[in-house]
Amino acid sequence: MRKAPNFDGLAGVYRWMEMASFGPLLSRCRFAFLDELRASRNALILGDGDGRFTARLLKENPVVLVDALDASPAMLRALVDNAGIRSSRIRVHVADARLWEPLVPTLDLIVTHFFLDCLTTREVASLAKRLRVSARPDAKWVVSEFAIPKGWFGWLVARPLITALYLLFWVLTGLSVFRLPNHRKALDEAGFTLSQQRRRLGGLLVSELWTVRPAADTQL
Ligand SMILES: C[S@@+](CC[C@H](N)C(=O)[O-])C[C@H]1O[C@@H](n2cnc3c(N)ncnc32)[C@H](O)[C@@H]1O
Repeated sequence: MRKAPNFDGLAGVYRWMEMASFGPLLSRCRFAFLDELRASRNALILGDGDGRFTARLLKENPVVLVDALDASPAMLRALVDNAGIRSSRIRVHVADARLWEPLVPTLDLIVTHFFLDCLTTREVASLAKRLRVSARPDAKWVVSEFAIPKGWFGWLVARPLITALYLLFWVLTGLSVFRLPNHRKALDEAGFTLSQQRRRLGGLLVSELWTVRPAADTQL
């Protein structure tokens, strides 16, 4: 198995790198479905980096308990700092998501913002199957991702930009994935259904809300 990338060195500067490149757009993707998450109780947040989404979720939803998993201890420290006094509702797990088995068999929220792009399609498929087993029938999975839209914008702008981002993260973190996974196929095959989608920047950025398909309709 590939080594997990090491984002420790970016924990302090990640927010500023993002602001310099995409401004507020990535945050808008992360927060797109916040209103729908007010009833969630047990959330698993994978690879939230410095934890700006986690902090906001804890603020908007006063009862949710969060399991935050990341391979980077420095990112998890930043996530806990960002949550302030609400960090008492977070359990942190320094782990590789590809190997981790969820502890809570009653997840009603899964969150992956700009995280699945660190995995291959096969790895996303394996993760999604494990998470499906731990997801309640009413669970939601919120995804933010880069995408390559069809047409000239996809070929001339999105594809080269995403390739450049992968090369940058390879240099900075050792991430050895160089193409976006087909996360939609992986989630669909694991038993999740795409319920809502919002696109930004001509389709370069997508926010998605997935729900659980009843087991009878799913080939596990
Ligand atoms: C590109 S950053 C995204 C951070 C944040 N979610 C955001 O919205 O910007 C990817 C995060 O996932 C973590 N990560 C990458 N691969 C991982 C893996 N295999 N297991 C656990 N965490 C991983 C990194 O340490 C980093 O914090």
